[in-house]
Amino acid sequence: MMVFVSRWSTCFFHVLLIGGSSARHVTMRNDDVCESGHCPKFHVAEQGMVMLQVKTDNTAENSTVELVEGGAPWGEQLALKVVKKLEEVMAHPEQAVRQLGAAYECIVRSGANLTKCEDGRKLSSGELPDAPKFLRLGFHDCVKYADGSGGCDACINLEGMFTKFKPAADDTKLPPGVGMAGNNNLALTADVLERIYTDPAYPANSPKLHRSLHEGGQSRADLWALATLYAARRGMVNNNRVCNKTSRNIYKNLGKPELCRLTPSRPMKFYSGRADCPSSFKADPNDQSKFYRRRAYETLKAEHEVNAHSDGKSLQRFFEDVFGMDARETVAIMGAHSFGTFNSGSSMFKYTWKRGTSELLSNEYYRLIALMPHYNKQTKPGGWHVVGGPGRTETNFSGALAKTRWLVRARDQTDGHGPFQWSHQYLRCPDCSWDGNWTPIGHSNEGGPGFRSERCCKECTKQPGDPTIPDACLRWVSQEEEASSVDAGLYLDFSFDPQSGRPTGCDFPDHFTNTKHQRGWTKKSHAPKGCQKQQLESKGDREPKMMYQIVEQYADNQNIWIDDFMPSLEKMLSNGADSLQEEFSFPGPDDEMQEPDPEPGCVDKRDNRMKNKGVHCATWSSVKKCTVCVNNDRWRQKKLCQYSCYQAGCGYKGDVCDMLREQ
Ligand code: HEM
Repeated sequence: MMVFVSRWSTCFFHVLLIGGSSARHVTMRNDDVCESGHCPKFHVAEQGMVMLQVKTDNTAENSTVELVEGGAPWGEQLALKVVKKLEEVMAHPEQAVRQLGAAYECIVRSGANLTKCEDGRKLSSGELPDAPKFLRLGFHDCVKYADGSGGCDACINLEGMFTKFKPAADDTKLPPGVGMAGNNNLALTADVLERIYTDPAYPANSPKLHRSLHEGGQSRADLWALATLYAARRGMVNNNRVCNKTSRNIYKNLGKPELCRLTPSRPMKFYSGRADCPSSFKADPNDQSKFYRRRAYETLKAEHEVNAHSDGKSLQRFFEDVFGMDARETVAIMGAHSFGTFNSGSSMFKYTWKRGTSELLSNEYYRLIALMPHYNKQTKPGGWHVVGGPGRTETNFSGALAKTRWLVRARDQTDGHGPFQWSHQYLRCPDCSWDGNWTPIGHSNEGGPGFRSERCCKECTKQPGDPTIPDACLRWVSQEEEASSVDAGLYLDFSFDPQSGRPTGCDFPDHFTNTKHQRGWTKKSHAPKGCQKQQLESKGDREPKMMYQIVEQYADNQNIWIDDFMPSLEKMLSNGADSLQEEFSFPGPDDEMQEPDPEPGCVDKRDNRMKNKGVHCATWSSVKKCTVCVNNDRWRQKKLCQYSCYQAGCGYKGDVCDMLREQ
């Protein structure tokens, strides 16, 4: 970090920390500035991207101090190179984590017992930094602190983190809220970003930067924002890739293939200029009082609570208070939950929002929470297919779309019987195939053997609504497709008990008394009936206004949603930033990412054989005599000593190597 401080009159200071780009005005009293000729107190973001100018007028009692802070600009080439790094990490998270070379801390929490995980354990898919985790981290970073300060500042609180929840063998319950440690499971993802931030060569197989982002004055917060956007892009690209296929293309199955493709009307944009959280918010890096090592991005400040059990109205208030978002923006941003899964180890919530399509960012989330008739998805046996209600034929085993509902389950791992999760159920027939006879092919968790029977397969060839179809052949089946109260609350108007997180209102029983003699909710679950739809209105002019109507609008039209989602995401990523500058537009989901420009010059790459022999490209006689280089198959394949070979007159086809590039 470079710091220049100059003083050219008793009360005129100029402090410049190289790398600044954006401006904020602060008013300070004159004597704050000039008292005894001392510099004013000012806060410097850790990596030094602050430009602070203090100008005072000797005659004025109050002076305006211009404080300029925020990450240095990126430029398109730097953004493209870092996107390549993110691409590598998201495509190969295990390799990226291995290259970190540090164990990832973990503690198993089972009832009152806390046990450290064994060394060298294999990381679970829930821990690995995949694209959905980068998107989730972006949200958690941008949530403000409980005192209303902060925003997207690349700092998160690690309290309650590194915890894996396991149901207790003795049925001991956890205090309610324990599993809600908002940032749990996100540190490994942040660790990867920290390495990208500080190490220009990380990860392997990605472009090497001339200097690290840290050295270049870019902020961590801008890197985290770029990663969030790129993760969202991956989800959109994944979605469009399945549109031409049958497998995983639920819209083809629904008979509405035109709904599949995301075609946003404008590009998603990356802006720079966010400031990182000040060192005064951070943990002391040398403090060893915790079982985990302190991180450069760890803050000790309490964050605004992110409560998955709250209802639609509280969720909207949260987004209003923390992000200044109205009801439409709230509904739009929550579509991020179409991407990724729950990880029961980290949140005690099970399964996934959209079965079989969790790697796609899409509006199917809204179809599910609007309880639209839908197909249940199967990936086995026999590959991707869907299962619905009656109306089967020998060429269409799926039948008609199935009615859907929620069954709210009490997972019963906390004192208040929580967490509570909304299980998406289908009123459907058994999964059957026809090869001259009807054969049930479902799994044992899909209804009992009476349901998964040849008889029920045959009954389901009757038309939907036929009263002669026995109840035993048309059943409510859950299929690992779930939501939390905040998701369901976008569409349905219920309340919740803040103590336990239990949904209330509608026809939820008033008390949850799960004893042998009295059960508030039969079998710890309840299928709510008669909930009103969520009528809270958005403020803007756009129609429709009510939250439930917006959910239905997004469910019907993928592109109305994506055109609202992208600005909401950009707004989320500007939370707390004073001024941002536009850097880079992502191409549309059907278009390829641009490659960064090739670096000028050629490298003198050596392989292990050369390194073991201790020979160097520029001086090795085999290169000088041209017995290797273009004249050797292995060398041609690996493009070894590219610069020296060219200089020796036996360069590789197409090379022009006037400059040696450092590796
Ligand atoms: C108050 C609002 C929100 C609540 C209460 C909430 C809660 C949760 C919970 C409980 C999980 C499951 C975590 C796990 O089991 O590992 C989750 C996952 C996720 N959240 Fe949210 N979330 C909210 C808003 C958002 C927003 C605004 C975004 C992004 C813009 C987002 C993105 C994600 C993603 C992508 C996942 C999946 C992560 C994975 O696959 O590991 N969430 N969220």
